[in-house]
Amino acid sequence: MKTDRDTRTLRVELGERSYPIYIGPGLIDQASIYRQHIPGQQVMVVTNETIAPLYLDRVLTALKGYQTESVILPDGEHHKTLSIWNQIFDALLNSQFNRQCSLVALGGGVIGDMAGFAAACYQRGVHLIQIPTTLLSQVDSSVGGKTGVNHLAGKNMIGAFYQPRCVIADTQTLNTLDDRQLAAGMAEIIKYGLIDDVAFFEWLESAMDRLLARDPVSLSEAIERSCRDKAILVAADEREAGSRALLNLGHTFGHAIETGLGYGAWLHGEAVAVGICMAADLSRRLGWLSGTEMDRTLKLIQQAGLPLNPPEELERERFLSLMSVDKKVLSGRLRLVLLKGIGRSLVTEDFDSAALISTLDEYGRNSL
Ligand code: NAD
Ligand code: GLY
Repeated sequence: MKTDRDTRTLRVELGERSYPIYIGPGLIDQASIYRQHIPGQQVMVVTNETIAPLYLDRVLTALKGYQTESVILPDGEHHKTLSIWNQIFDALLNSQFNRQCSLVALGGGVIGDMAGFAAACYQRGVHLIQIPTTLLSQVDSSVGGKTGVNHLAGKNMIGAFYQPRCVIADTQTLNTLDDRQLAAGMAEIIKYGLIDDVAFFEWLESAMDRLLARDPVSLSEAIERSCRDKAILVAADEREAGSRALLNLGHTFGHAIETGLGYGAWLHGEAVAVGICMAADLSRRLGWLSGTEMDRTLKLIQQAGLPLNPPEELERERFLSLMSVDKKVLSGRLRLVLLKGIGRSLVTEDFDSAALISTLDEYGRNSL
């Protein structure tokens, strides 16, 4: 039997938009959590065709007493589009849901981003509960309020900042996740260690095998530490005027890979893993990261079962043009998150562009 002692609770401190993150086994069944955070009567659960058969009935059972409806979207990053997103509004309007309704996002980052963006827009904003069911969404996308959909020209280019009323990370849902998806989540976890938490990075070096073996205590620990690190950066800079951009370590390279290959060809976490390797390589070329720190970074990413090299078909010029669509580009200057050491990241446009070209060439030549 699960007890409250199995549940870890953190808070994202954002004044009147503050909210808790609950982490633990069996949480999707706990009616009391929903009752605390869902004020109205109407609840629309947004999920997809893979997750619905696994978890939708359990969530609906825990929501007994509310007027519940669900909308089941097609699965996949390539469906993270405005037209599929519109199906959420069709469902809300067909069910005559009003401004007091709540949206529950049940799924990975794709569902969380789409449902979150719908909650931001439906009748100018309704309540949102995030129930992330992938490792990546439990450690990253469900926390912090970034929501949106992709455009063919760029990842997550259409969206809004919109915070949930709570995040319910049920660690048992990870049991049905395949190994490739679990590894993808590790990329974002490793990211936190590199950004500003050297102790977490060192812990990951010793715990990675236990994490991949799905040891529940180690997984809960990694999720809690990741969410804590993210919550601090989000609380300091909710709308990414400055330091929150550090959370995009590896993402400018990674988004270029995702957009360049076509959404879904590579998993987001895989693209971020390679992006981190490339950011580390550039940092080393600039003399900011030592060879030893670079090796430790690559070793941990490899140990997690993640790729170290970008796909061959992305040539330097294409990479550069895709990177220039990034949301961090300011006045035409490419800004990147780079490393001055493990746990010491910075956002900068002040780097030698020849070093960036060398990184792109190096990674091109070494492609798998
Ligand atoms: P995803 O949502 O596509 O989920 C991965 C796959 O796992 C899907 O096929 C999904 O149906 C399936 N799945 C989900 N939960 C499952 C479970 N418990 N058991 C079995 N299968 C399950 O991918 P993701 O990695 O969770 O999220 C990636 C997305 O998140 C990208 O679109 C990325 O841009 C976004 N993202 C957003 C933020 C943010 O801050 N908003 C941060 C990071 C990533
Ligand atoms: N994943 C980046 C952010 O939330 O800011």
